[in-house]
Amino acid sequence: MTDLIVTLDGPAGTGKSTVSKAVADRLGLPRLDTGAFYRAAGLAALRAGVDLDDDRAVADVVAGKVFDQEEGRMYLDGEDVSAEIRGQPATAASSLVSAHPDVRGLLVVFQREWVARHENRAVVEGRDIGSVVFPHATLKIYLDARPEVRAQRRAAQTGLDRAEVLDELSDRDRRDSTRNASPLIVPDGAIVIDTSDMTVVEVVDVIVDLARRVAA
Ligand code: DC
Repeated sequence: MTDLIVTLDGPAGTGKSTVSKAVADRLGLPRLDTGAFYRAAGLAALRAGVDLDDDRAVADVVAGKVFDQEEGRMYLDGEDVSAEIRGQPATAASSLVSAHPDVRGLLVVFQREWVARHENRAVVEGRDIGSVVFPHATLKIYLDARPEVRAQRRAAQTGLDRAEVLDELSDRDRRDSTRNASPLIVPDGAIVIDTSDMTVVEVVDVIVDLARRVAA
């Protein structure tokens, strides 16, 4: 079978996760959530008690672990850590460790190996997928939305205050797009979809249609 790699990048609150799941289902492909790898790396570093600001120390921990994901569940050395990586400690830790070049280098290799094990046919979601992990992907999508809309969606999901969420999102955007290691950018050749005024179904339809066309 020929390779079919669909990448989905973009900031938080654009619907990446929901959209990538639905696109993968419709195309009959597995989906890889790379954010879960960074979260699991943060959790592993926390458990090991190393300094989260120390790239080399965190990378040494990450290098000794097995990262896997199946059916949307995340496994660290075979342990299902899906719930724990969504908690506040692992979320905060993932944000710190994802800024480190050595940690990123390792996780990028693990992500490529995962896709290779899945016959190079997958929907892969993250921040640097079309730019760094799979620059030669079959189809690259960049999801975007106005900050107020993204904050509104996050607030509805989490029950938190919208103004607070907007502040936090703006901070995170600034950190993600200005960091030295793999900043969040629109990858070369990516199709940008502004989801602000679209339903999930509409976004999914557009992507599935594009994927079928490029794969034909
Ligand atoms: O998408 P998420 O919130 O699960 O991502 C968790 C953290 O990992 C977040 O700080 C962004 C970062 N991340 C990254 O730097 N590169 C990726 N490909 C995916 C996530």
